[in-house]
Amino acid sequence: MIGSVARRGLSFLGLRRGGARATAPQWSHRSAQQYEAAHVLAWIGSDAGEHVERLRRKVATPHPLLLAQFFQNDHDVWREFAEHIRGKTVLDVGCGPIPFVSFLPSEALAIAIDPLINTYDAEMRRVHGISPFANVRPYAQPAEVFIPELEGRVDGAIFCRNALDHLEFPAIVLSNLAGYAAPGCRLLLWTDVVHDKGGDAGHHSIANDVASFARLVRNLGFDVERLTPAAPNRSALEWGCVAVKR
Ligand SMILES: C[S@@+](CC[C@H](N)C(=O)[O-])C[C@H]1O[C@@H](n2cnc3c(N)ncnc32)[C@H](O)[C@@H]1O
Repeated sequence: MIGSVARRGLSFLGLRRGGARATAPQWSHRSAQQYEAAHVLAWIGSDAGEHVERLRRKVATPHPLLLAQFFQNDHDVWREFAEHIRGKTVLDVGCGPIPFVSFLPSEALAIAIDPLINTYDAEMRRVHGISPFANVRPYAQPAEVFIPELEGRVDGAIFCRNALDHLEFPAIVLSNLAGYAAPGCRLLLWTDVVHDKGGDAGHHSIANDVASFARLVRNLGFDVERLTPAAPNRSALEWGCVAVKR
């Protein structure tokens, strides 16, 4: 989850963590999960405080990084989104230790998919005495495995941030998400697409180029409303959008 400063620039909710590798070991599903678990457990112990505090205070407004990335740094844009998802189902894929959906108003049905959910939940309870998954329906599994009961059921939004280049079959995951999204569902997506030298133990390139990846998202039935702003000083080529399912 958390990349080195030199290679990745951005990490979980914008927090940075240091130390580029001289030679990066190759990505595999197993190495990525080990990488993720090690880094996130360290992050929970050292850097999660601000997010835990927001969780305790039930701060519904997104973290500043997310407000900038998906809502144009504009509280009116956020409020329009919050109004759209009221009473609807919202899914967070590759949600990490403190899912975006943990912060949503309780009228929304929050769902999260991530193979490390149980590890994250246990560590958050142990270290901070709080579970970010308390009001979330968790699927502790890879998002490549289709969940039939979600087909066409996600009418609010799907959030998938900084996850696709961590998992094994990103195109299959996008296809599954397209299957879950009901017409009108928003997609809030951001990922690195092409990594320098193909990636490292935790990340890998998921398309030949950014344009092909963008085409895939559109061809899966998502109309792009706006692109996420380019993050500065990245060694990877990224792509993100807010889109609406046709
Ligand atoms: C960098 S974290 C991103 C967390 C959060 N979305 C964020 O923006 O900070 C990547 C997450 O993807 C998860 N992940 C890895 N393989 C996955 C898979 N096959 N299906 C779903 N999630 C996966 C990891 O466990 C990790 O929690």
